[in-house]
Amino acid sequence: MHIPVFYNETLKYLNPKSGENFIDCTLGDGGHTLGILNRNAPNGKVLAIDWDMEMIKRVIIRISDFDLRERLILVNDNFVNLKKIVSEYNFNNISGVLLDLGMSSFHIEESGRGFTFLKDEPLGMNFVGDGFGNDLPNAEEIINNYSGEKLAEIFKEYGGERFARSMAGKIVEARKTKLIKTTKELIGVIKSAVLSKFRHNRIHFATRIFQALRIEVNREIENLKSVLPQVFDVLNSGGRLAVISFHSLEDKEVKDFFREKKTKGEMNILTKKPLRPFFEEVKNNPRARSAKMRVAVKI
Ligand SMILES: C[S@@+](CC[C@H](N)C(=O)[O-])C[C@H]1O[C@@H](n2cnc3c(N)ncnc32)[C@H](O)[C@@H]1O
Repeated sequence: MHIPVFYNETLKYLNPKSGENFIDCTLGDGGHTLGILNRNAPNGKVLAIDWDMEMIKRVIIRISDFDLRERLILVNDNFVNLKKIVSEYNFNNISGVLLDLGMSSFHIEESGRGFTFLKDEPLGMNFVGDGFGNDLPNAEEIINNYSGEKLAEIFKEYGGERFARSMAGKIVEARKTKLIKTTKELIGVIKSAVLSKFRHNRIHFATRIFQALRIEVNREIENLKSVLPQVFDVLNSGGRLAVISFHSLEDKEVKDFFREKKTKGEMNILTKKPLRPFFEEVKNNPRARSAKMRVAVKI
């Protein structure tokens, strides 16, 4: 089960009260959603979105014991369609919205879609899996079709990878003889681009490349840019937006969006600096290591 990051902080800032409605744009295993449902009982609702149907199915199983189902609306879609979803479900009076970005533990540990370099799996990295209208590429197509320059650019921009150019060069060379189809094959190719003294660092040398590919496959930065103004439009005045991000580019998008809204007098920022997890949280949940949380309220 995915351990929710910033669980207490999310509930503190969203501050769900009896009868209030919330949107969770990133349902995952439903940890935050369940926390909200416990607080906005007996008649507050949560509309929760995940574009991976597997996550929706897991939550249906998880909450079958609870008397919460009728207050939870589950939607299998991309959160970039937020305004359309809200109007389709006629979901009004929204007191808060949560975005807990990135992937769930399920994706790494169980999906078999190549999110981790610790297993040998096909190079998928697509969150949507076999779900609704999946028009996303998979990592295999990117690795085998993008130009060397383009690969180096995404490794640098989304991964901050110091050996970006040389890794891209090795990939272009290797795929001339044989397409790169699995995580193990990819690791074998990029390893030769990493100086041996960096091969045994605490952070595995493939970490940044896997992160960069995942962000590119799932268009994560574009999705975030598209959803933020939609969240603003659907929120009640006094409604809160909480965003948990795991990448500096995502955090920058959120910071810039909040600043712009503050300058226009449309939002107040509740977290002057982004919240960072306490040592205890990172100890129990290493995924929280790079997490940042920002919250703003619509005026
Ligand atoms: C970090 S997990 C959320 C974990 C959740 N808060 C919990 O407590 O279990 C992020 C989830 O958002 C989903 N997701 C990512 N991008 C999405 C998008 N553009 N539209 C809809 N769901 C998305 C992923 O499939 C993943 O399940």
